[in-house]
Amino acid sequence: MQKIVLEGGNKLIGEVNVSPAKNACLPIIASLIALDGEILLKNAPKIADVLVMAQIIECLGGSYKYCENGLRLNTQNIKVYEADCFICKKARASFFIVGGLLARFKKAVVPLPGGCNIGTRPIDIHINVMKQFGVQSEIIDDKVIFNGENARSGKVVLSYPSVGATVNAICLSAFLKGESIILNAAREPEIVDLCNFLNGCGCKIMGEGTSCLRIIGIRALQKIKIEYLPIKDRIEAGSYMCMAAMTGGNIAFKYDNFEYISKMAEKLIDIGVEIKRNKNEVLLFANSGLKAFNLVADVYPAFPTDMQSLFCSLGAVCKGVSIIEDRVFVNRFDLCKELIKMGAKIEIEKGKAVVTGVNKLKGAKVFACDLRAGAALITAGLNAEGRTEIYNSEMISRGYEDIINKLKKLGAKIKEEI
Ligand code: UD1
Repeated sequence: MQKIVLEGGNKLIGEVNVSPAKNACLPIIASLIALDGEILLKNAPKIADVLVMAQIIECLGGSYKYCENGLRLNTQNIKVYEADCFICKKARASFFIVGGLLARFKKAVVPLPGGCNIGTRPIDIHINVMKQFGVQSEIIDDKVIFNGENARSGKVVLSYPSVGATVNAICLSAFLKGESIILNAAREPEIVDLCNFLNGCGCKIMGEGTSCLRIIGIRALQKIKIEYLPIKDRIEAGSYMCMAAMTGGNIAFKYDNFEYISKMAEKLIDIGVEIKRNKNEVLLFANSGLKAFNLVADVYPAFPTDMQSLFCSLGAVCKGVSIIEDRVFVNRFDLCKELIKMGAKIEIEKGKAVVTGVNKLKGAKVFACDLRAGAALITAGLNAEGRTEIYNSEMISRGYEDIINKLKKLGAKIKEEI
């Protein structure tokens, strides 16, 4: 098991580079299964989840290679519609390949998803939306077997705007003959990016960024050669903002679409952090003496669930009582047990974390139960007195590119030990 070791107390100061978004890269790679494509995903982050998705492409018969400019993928030789169980279990997003496989083969066999340990992660919405497109499915052992022989375009309604189910609905209907309407679709920026990518490949997707998508299907398996630069990672940007705020530091980073990170920025401003914008540059100035806050994580455009954990760490040192609720993954509070080991005062009451701020956290041996909890523990460790050891830190490399070096460059005393 890998661990990250850090000594708190240093302010984070300087400029940090935000990588392209993991959650944009994963659906884009998955969508490529529907095409005979050669793609250069520019600056694709070297993180474990992206590698897993590339390995899935390889297992299906395609290929991938990291090069100087990013990640090259080729799906021309994909011949298999059954995905490898061992690899798929490593990432929840492996289930995003269902739509592309159905578009290409009219069949798909995909293992039940693995991924982050953040509570139950059902697939009923995926199954239901596929059913509305005429796709039959059954679960046998640990696999879902989809039959799309009778798949057809049409109007479908998601019972909840699941990101993954929206990805699958798009990746299938973009290649079904005729017009499809997807209602109650997810509106996340990464869904918009997937639509932009597919439109660049010749697809006809309209309404991206709204909950009603209109899609005119094109033929699957078209030959495509394309270079694409995904949007920057809003969660990574938010994470560095949170970490800098935690240390009373000041950082700057480039980010084109400020509205994608505005909910996090607004919350930080509420608690006493100063945030300025200069064209596409974001500048953050923090002091000690941050104030408690209330936060409800929900689907976009609300505050993102993926940032909730980091704000639990921040709340642990804000003056007063902060109340944090997650309406997306309602039980995503395992992290709090670890924060308590670091001296945080947190109680979970009726699905909400009630966090009473203390002056300072203290270093401890803690366990990263999931990706964002890992980042939250780094956030806490940056403030803590003494040495923090974060075990299971492989979790963090699933989603944060080069985080140790980025933090070192900002002045943190941090290293990874294997
Ligand atoms: C994506 C993101 C993840 C983020 C999440 C919510 C990627 C690779 N991952 O995950 O970082 O935390 O969106 O913003 O993009 N649900 C069901 N049934 C289903 C599908 C989902 O009940 O069939 C529930 C989930 O348990 C969860 C909620 O819906 O409570 C949101 O899940 P979903 O939007 O599907 O998240 P993911 O696509 O897995």
